[in-house]
Amino acid sequence: MALVELALTVNGKQTTVRVEEDKNLLYLIREVLGLKGTKEGCGEGDCGACTVLLDGKAVNSCLVLAVQAEGKELVTIEGLGSPENLHPLQQAFVEEGAIQCGFCTPGMILSAKALLDSNPEPSLEEIRLGISGNLCRCTGYQKIIAAVQKASKIMVESAARKEGE
Ligand code: FES
Ligand code: FES
Repeated sequence: MALVELALTVNGKQTTVRVEEDKNLLYLIREVLGLKGTKEGCGEGDCGACTVLLDGKAVNSCLVLAVQAEGKELVTIEGLGSPENLHPLQQAFVEEGAIQCGFCTPGMILSAKALLDSNPEPSLEEIRLGISGNLCRCTGYQKIIAAVQKASKIMVESAARKEGE
């Protein structure tokens, strides 16, 4: 299969990559870019483990062709926070015990980020809907929902503080 050259922004960095034109975005992320935080579960759009943000929208990267990322802004879990300075969602997931095996966590957090970016104070129902494409076999979802609520509160308060400065 022919290799194509793609230019895209990966976690804030302008990047050029070469990838076979029939490969999906998940392959590009894990195998070409080496960003293993994005997980492969079902490979067919059912589990959400492969969720990333493409131009700010949560997408199942197993269902998107790599070439569709041309010119776009890709954010993976590696683009959120750092071990020393976690994103509020990552911090809240840790504090609320919303991570068990962790397999669903990167995708879950990116779906939650897309939700909070478009709706900073979602209702319980909106949170449930926002993460409805992400399956978790371990937590029973309650702690995940609590973590999203906590992160929402922290992010709204921090935005209000910045506005007041
Ligand atoms: S691996 Fe993409 S939705 Fe399951
Ligand atoms: S923490 Fe194990 S699948 Fe969600």
